[in-house]
Amino acid sequence: MPESKQPSPRLVASRAVQLVADKGLNSDNALAEAGLAKLTDPRNASFAKSICLGTLRWYHQLDALLSMLLDKPLPRKNRDLHFLLLTALFQLSKTDIARHGVVSETVSLVNVIKKKWARGLLNAVLRNYLRQADKLEKRINNSATATSSHPEWLLTILQESWPNDWQEITAENNKQAPLSLRVNCLSNSRDEYLELLKSANISCSSSEIVASGITLETPCPVESLPGFNDGQVSIQDIAPQLAASLLDVKSGQRVLDACAAPGGKTAHIFESTAGNLELTALELDPQRLQRINQNMQRLGFEIEVLEGDACKTESWWQGKQFDRILLDAPCSGTGVIRRHPDIKLLRRKSDIERLAALQLELLRALWPLLKSGGKLLYATCSILPQENEETIDKFLAREETAIELNIDVHYGQSRQHGIQILPGDHNMDGFFYACLQKN
Ligand SMILES: C[S@@+](CC[C@H](N)C(=O)[O-])C[C@H]1O[C@@H](n2cnc3c(N)ncnc32)[C@H](O)[C@@H]1O
Repeated sequence: MPESKQPSPRLVASRAVQLVADKGLNSDNALAEAGLAKLTDPRNASFAKSICLGTLRWYHQLDALLSMLLDKPLPRKNRDLHFLLLTALFQLSKTDIARHGVVSETVSLVNVIKKKWARGLLNAVLRNYLRQADKLEKRINNSATATSSHPEWLLTILQESWPNDWQEITAENNKQAPLSLRVNCLSNSRDEYLELLKSANISCSSSEIVASGITLETPCPVESLPGFNDGQVSIQDIAPQLAASLLDVKSGQRVLDACAAPGGKTAHIFESTAGNLELTALELDPQRLQRINQNMQRLGFEIEVLEGDACKTESWWQGKQFDRILLDAPCSGTGVIRRHPDIKLLRRKSDIERLAALQLELLRALWPLLKSGGKLLYATCSILPQENEETIDKFLAREETAIELNIDVHYGQSRQHGIQILPGDHNMDGFFYACLQKN
């Protein structure tokens, strides 16, 4: 079949990695642009996706390996070969795909990209790697960036912030995230849903941390989950499922979810009060806002969804204060790297300062909207203190009406302010929570 109709999954993967590394696209958009949809056989699509995500996960290590195998970096016009080599090195060093197949299939792609002259180069580099794999892998042990496969700036912050944990954090970041579910308690109890999973031969375990949580033994496509389309269950890691109980919503209260898309926590708050509340979901990005509407439609929930900027409350707020505010702030996503390995390539050190300033601005803008005695839960999926306890510290230093409430739980680590869940803790994503009350 011509390449335009049914491309090679390996080529789709390598083009996607190039789009992430060179053009700054996130992995979903990069895979889409690289032609994932043209892979009509789901096995090919999932193969392309796994090579792309695996290469991104090990990018810094594979790049170090490749630079040892090349006399000099490939010129700009041949960056496509660089990425073909990286994806091949990923398959050779991190998977058990037959080696001769990886080499021959990768080399054969030079015909598709019309660079037949590169056949010898690709062959030589990959065979050279196979001959010297042990020696080369020992050599990269000298570099923490290469062994941990994290960018230097992030590794430095992790080492400074988590001197006892950074090695475990980076190891957890390089694992594949589990698939966890949130049972919609308005449709069925967790026990009832566990029975449905059992009938569908899906092995799983119940979360001991949240009553709604289930983690699958092996991830599966959402379409194979019983009752997914009817809203009986949603995909959500266990750590974000903590938000609904930490927010402590009581029936009849007015609640604002200030940064709501795609609406996972909004829906959980609704479920936890059986819809007996006045819930407003606010979102800045109109495209992401559509995802809130789609999710609410799938679940059959009716709530108020507003498009607006949480920093500019005068443009959407009608003046009636809220009992509860959830601020699930935009952040670096450094707690969910195991789920989104592209974060290691896309984030820059300078992003952290910008995000911390935005988080503080959001807190300050939303505070006047909270009733006296009301609670605001601040959450991020970041593990960087600058975005978490330091943001709360700056906020509390200037806001006399705010007090911090203790979060007394048996998971995560208590910090100067709030609690930090590190990735892998009880198999959860990395998350930060701090609960503030208006005095
Ligand atoms: C961490 S995500 C929220 C995830 C969501 N709470 C959930 O559980 O599904 C942060 C969201 O905040 C939105 N956002 C960023 N800046 C915002 C602002 N100034 N006002 C409102 N929403 C904003 C982003 O577009 C993004 O959808």
